Amino acid sequence: MKLAALQKELLAFQKKAKPQELNELKTFIADAFFELHEHKDDKAEVQDKIATLHEIAAEIRPLVNIAGNFKTDKEIWPAHGEFSEMNPETTAVYDDFLYPDEVLDPLMDAGEAKCYHCNACGSNDTVPLDIISHSASAVQLAAIFRFVLPAALFPNDMVITGAMRAAMGRMTLVDIGSRLGPVLYAAHELTDIGTIVGVEIDERYNNLVNTVAKRRGLGRISTVTADVTTAAAAPVLEGADVVFIHNVFDFFVSPDAIQSAWRATLTNLRRAKKGTLILAKPALHTMLENSGMPEEAVTKELEFVEEVDVSQAADVAVAELGLDGLEIFFYRIK
Ligand SMILES: C[S@@+](CC[C@H](N)C(=O)[O-])C[C@H]1O[C@@H](n2cnc3c(N)ncnc32)[C@H](O)[C@@H]1O
Repeated sequence: MKLAALQKELLAFQKKAKPQELNELKTFIADAFFELHEHKDDKAEVQDKIATLHEIAAEIRPLVNIAGNFKTDKEIWPAHGEFSEMNPETTAVYDDFLYPDEVLDPLMDAGEAKCYHCNACGSNDTVPLDIISHSASAVQLAAIFRFVLPAALFPNDMVITGAMRAAMGRMTLVDIGSRLGPVLYAAHELTDIGTIVGVEIDERYNNLVNTVAKRRGLGRISTVTADVTTAAAAPVLEGADVVFIHNVFDFFVSPDAIQSAWRATLTNLRRAKKGTLILAKPALHTMLENSGMPEEAVTKELEFVEEVDVSQAADVAVAELGLDGLEIFFYRIK
């Protein structure tokens, strides 16, 4: 068959195909082209990278508690939004990066990590605890960095070429509130981004991340100890091509300060380059609404970004990595 005829058939298929069929076709073509580009081992490589992230998690586990906090830290319970409705008494904070299911489940089975609470003390009337995490899991981060980010950076390409890798090498990723560093390690292991910076207010976390990065030779990672709501953080954000924001203030900033923290952070972010991608978990408007900001103000604050539809790449990632779903929202600075 001539290429032109094949292209015509593919375009006709694209018009009538269901989203799932389209995804399957894309995965098929991507797999075939990866083979042509000697990336046969891509799937195995992603699993190897996830295993490396799990090894890093195992190194960090003894240094913090099961929530990923230093032992003396106190949680600040949010006053607005989805988390405020949860009861601290019946909610457990387990760090998804440090404790993947295969590590947490045996602890729960052995009763070393609670998964139920008692409805009436002393009775058998037990109810599952609500479980939250302040870190994304290694598998979720692999999905974001290996499948979704390349699709957003290079929307018209299905295969990562040497030129794209080189372009990523000139990019800077900034994780706002980098804490234990999962986003930084995952970006290092699963992307070619050349400069990976964590901005974190708590120096103890940065010391920990710097130790891990040095020990493992993750030389593209650095940290900046700064308050992202102040002008001191603006130069870091100005140089960013990709900014990651994972629920930075809930649980870490007191409810009365959270709205002004968001306003100041967005003022800094507006100074970033046009075209900079923002990766948010949960959606930006959800985080702002959770701060108690009125809806109209949220819309106004977010006028400087447009959402990027990454649903197709996210669907592919979910299928490839066998995830239940993937919560990540992409925006581009206008
Ligand atoms: C939910 S954790 C984010 C974890 C990390 N990005 C990840 O996905 O694994 C939020 C982090 O933001 C940090 N943080 C809170 N307020 C901050 C501020 N004003 N400036 C910089 N970091 C801040 C907290 O100390 C905490 O480590």
